[in-house]
Amino acid sequence: MKKPNVLLSTEVIQQRVRELGAQITADYQGAEQLMVVPILKGSFLFAADLIRAIDVDLSVEFLGLRSYGAGTETSGVVQITYDLNSPITNRDVLVVEDIVDTGLSMRYLLENLATRQPRSVRLCSLLHKPSRTRVKVPIDYLGFTIEDHFVVGYGLDYAERYRHLPYIGVISE
Ligand code: IMP
Ligand code: MG
Repeated sequence: MKKPNVLLSTEVIQQRVRELGAQITADYQGAEQLMVVPILKGSFLFAADLIRAIDVDLSVEFLGLRSYGAGTETSGVVQITYDLNSPITNRDVLVVEDIVDTGLSMRYLLENLATRQPRSVRLCSLLHKPSRTRVKVPIDYLGFTIEDHFVVGYGLDYAERYRHLPYIGVISE
């Protein structure tokens, strides 16, 4: 297994996660119990750190998404592989995603969630690659904007590898 080059170190990620947590804590002060929805599998490490940096009452419900595509390309065909186990009617929902690339996955998901009558839905994404945008989705809380690299680690994979790296790296060609 080739070692990826570090793009965002553990320290840099952890600092940003603390800032995002503080911002979310401030924004949901006095609200009803927040429902945090980590998108599997890519956001599982980010979400695990993020919720520990959020100091408001919250619950966690997972949702699995798969966007079919060859190699590192999204096809735009999105499938829910694991759905929420509880209704979101009248709930404040915070979707936690690893990366918004073309935006197709999040557009699909946000439209789907809207039909379930939540009180509010916001999106928190660790990464955003604006150069690849095909559909614009509003990211309410963003960790880092990155260049058009295929990144791995801290939950993100390439063919299911590298998710366990404690940093975000780029595989060299
Ligand atoms: P989108 O639908 O094109 O915005 O991409 C959504 C999904 O593709 C993300 O949630 C990731 O799972 C995956 N993805 C996009 N870019 C990368 C990357 O650079 N590394 C790893 N996974 C990625
Ligand atoms: Mg993902």
